[in-house]
Amino acid sequence: MPTDGVAQVEDRLGRRLRDLRISVTDRCNFRCPYCMPAEVFGKDYAFLPRDEILTFEEIVRIVRVAAAQGVTKVRLTGGEPLVRREVERLVAMVAAVDGVDDIAMTTNGATLAGKAKALKEAGLTRITVSLDSLDDQVFQAMNGVGAPLARVLDGIDAASAAGLAPIKLNAVVQRGVNDGGILDLARFGRERGFVVRFIEYMDVGTTNGWRLDDVVPAAEIVETIGAEYPLQPLGAQYPGEVARRYRYADGEGEVGVIASVTQPFCQGCTRARLTAEGKLYTCLFATAGHDLRAILRASGDDAGLEALLSRVWRDRVDRYSEERASLMAPRERIEMSYVGG
Ligand code: GTP
Ligand code: 5AD
Ligand code: SF4
Ligand code: SF4
Repeated sequence: MPTDGVAQVEDRLGRRLRDLRISVTDRCNFRCPYCMPAEVFGKDYAFLPRDEILTFEEIVRIVRVAAAQGVTKVRLTGGEPLVRREVERLVAMVAAVDGVDDIAMTTNGATLAGKAKALKEAGLTRITVSLDSLDDQVFQAMNGVGAPLARVLDGIDAASAAGLAPIKLNAVVQRGVNDGGILDLARFGRERGFVVRFIEYMDVGTTNGWRLDDVVPAAEIVETIGAEYPLQPLGAQYPGEVARRYRYADGEGEVGVIASVTQPFCQGCTRARLTAEGKLYTCLFATAGHDLRAILRASGDDAGLEALLSRVWRDRVDRYSEERASLMAPRERIEMSYVGG
C-alpha cells in the first residue's frame, strides 16, 4: 500500500506508476539467441563501462523518489542480475525503502544455487527463473553457451529451499524451437508447485531477427495444455498484471501466458524501467530514455529527480504492443538485455 506522502502520478492515458524494473547490469552469462545472439554480443561487444553504471546508493535514491510517486513493486533484472557483485546488498537497501512492499528478481538461475539463501535473507520477496525447456539439449541451445539444465534446476531447488515462494518459471516459446516441450514444462510446474508462465516471443530490440511466424500464440499454448490438463481462467491478482492466469481444474496449481503480441496489455501498463546506466524508459519498445544519472550526479538534492520522473510519467503515451500491427516502418529499439525484461 502507498504510504502517506505519496503523490500518485498518472500518465496521459490515466495509467498509474506502480512498478519500477531495474536493470542492474547489461551483462549476462547466457547468450539466448532471442535476446543476446552470440554473433552480436561477442567478445568485442561494448558493454557499459563501470563508471557509467549506477552505484547501489544511486539506484536507491531513484527508488525512494519513485516510491514517493506511487511505486510499490520493484523488480531487479539485467542482463543477468546475479552477475552484478553483491546484488544482495542492493536487495537489502531497496527492502528498506518506505512504500516498497514487493521486491522480485528475474534471473536465468545459472548461479542461483549459491545465492538463493543470501537473497532471501536480504529481503527478496520472490524470484522468477527463466526456463525455456526441460530437454537438456534444447535448453543448452536456447541459452547459447551450453549451460546444463541441471545447474538451473539446482538453482530453482535452492530458491525453493530458501523459502523464496512463490517461484515463477518463465518460458519464451519459439515455434519449432521449444514448442514441443510446453506440456513437459506445465507438468513440471504442476508437480513441483511452480507457476509456469509461457511468454510469446517478442520483437524486442533489433538483433534477434524476430518474425511473426516464430510466435506461438498464447491461445494455442492454452489449448495444448488444456487438452491434457483442463484449465479454468482466473482473474488478475492486481491491476496491470501482464500474465493471464489459469488454474488446473483438478486443483493442482496455476499456469499463465504472457501474450504481448496477440493480446496486448498496454491499457493497464504501470511499469517504468531503469537501465544500469540510469536511463528511464516508459516502454519496453521505446527508442529513447531519459537521463536520470546526470541529475543524480549533479546534485545531492532529489528535487530535480522528482520533477523529471513525474514529468516523464505524466507525458507518457506509450502503447507499443497495441500499435505494433499498424506501425508501417520498423523503428529503432533498445535491447532487452539493456533495458531489462
Ligand atoms: P509478476 O510481478 O510476478 O506478476 O511478474 P511480471 O508480470 O512482472 O512478469 P515478469 O517480470 O516475469 O515478466 C515476464 C515477461 O513478460 C518479461 O520477461 C517480458 O517478456 C514480458 N513483459 C513484462 N512486462 C512487460 C511489459 O510491460 N510489456 C511487454 N510488452 N512485455 C512485458
Ligand atoms: N521475447 C519475449 N521474452 C523475452 N525475454 C528476453 N527476450 C525476449 C523476447 N524476445 C525474457 C526472458 C526472460 C526475461 C529476462 O525476458 O525469457 O524471462
Ligand atoms: Fe541473458 Fe536472460 Fe537475455 Fe537469456 S534472456 S541472454 S539469460 S538476459
Ligand atoms: Fe507497457 Fe510498452 Fe509493454 Fe505496452 S508495450 S505493455 S506500453 S511496456
